[in-house]
Amino acid sequence: MRRLDGKVALVTGGARGIGEGIVRRFVEEGAHVLITDILDDEGQALADELGAGCTFTHHDVTDEAGWKRAFAYCSKTFGKVDCLVNNAGIIKFAKLDDLAAEDMRKIIEVNLISVMIGTQAAIPYLEAVGGGSIINMSSADGISGANSLTAYCASKFGVRGFTKAAAMELGPRGIRVNSIHPGGIVTPLANPHNVSRADYDKGFRIYPAQRAGDPSDIGAAAAYLASDDALYCHGTELSVDGGLNAGHYYMTMPGAPERT
Ligand SMILES: NC(=O)c1ccc[n+]([C@@H]2O[C@H](COP(=O)([O-])OP(=O)(O)OC[C@H]3O[C@@H](n4cnc5c(N)ncnc54)[C@H](O)[C@@H]3O)[C@@H](O)[C@H]2O)c1
Repeated sequence: MRRLDGKVALVTGGARGIGEGIVRRFVEEGAHVLITDILDDEGQALADELGAGCTFTHHDVTDEAGWKRAFAYCSKTFGKVDCLVNNAGIIKFAKLDDLAAEDMRKIIEVNLISVMIGTQAAIPYLEAVGGGSIINMSSADGISGANSLTAYCASKFGVRGFTKAAAMELGPRGIRVNSIHPGGIVTPLANPHNVSRADYDKGFRIYPAQRAGDPSDIGAAAAYLASDDALYCHGTELSVDGGLNAGHYYMTMPGAPERT
């Protein structure tokens, strides 16, 4: 018996990156998965590769009517929905002085408002199966601040707060709502210039793990939160960040990573 046998999940932004890592792990663990994304070719190719337990539909997470269509499609295809993973997200690096209000609006719309309208769309489906799981992708940048990321941090702190408040309201209705807080994970979003893995990892010496993370690291965390192993997790913020938010190193004192 695999951990997600019999479960059905809808994963947004599932065509690549962290979403792809979640989709792959969910399918490995026995779930049926609807991938949604705006990247049709990548999403369809992944669904084709993973076989009958997986399908794809185009959905922009800012489209409210599209949410209803996506849930109806998932339910029609696989018979029900047990889990929503609000993973789709965007980032923009900009010094605060240079940040355009329009960019901030867009980031809040895609990263935060989508989580609200997606959660609303999920509720009747999750209640229909007697309860379920919503997993919201926040970030290590939803726990502490970072330069050039004021808009992104605001959106991810928002996801964290939304998760806690939604967990309070929806827990008594049988629905668990939790957030994941990845550190730097090697994906097109975090490594847009495709720096080699060895060079990329050099930037991660301030992480206890001494490396960047992989989408599979987040897939494992999401599989846990989607499974019945996490039945007592409500409003949990699960850091999967290589230790980034555990603290900081005094580099000249004993116990710090060796300088290379
Ligand atoms: N990579 C990291 O280091 C990191 C760290 C912390 C949190 N995150 C979060 O993890 C999530 C996934 O990020 P990633 O690194 O895999 O990025 P990515 O760019 O590789 O993948 C994001 C996916 O979301 C999709 N997407 C973007 N806008 C969309 C929209 N409006 N509607 C539907 N789909 C949309 C993209 O097409 C893409 O397939 C994001 O929420 C991101 O903020 C990433």
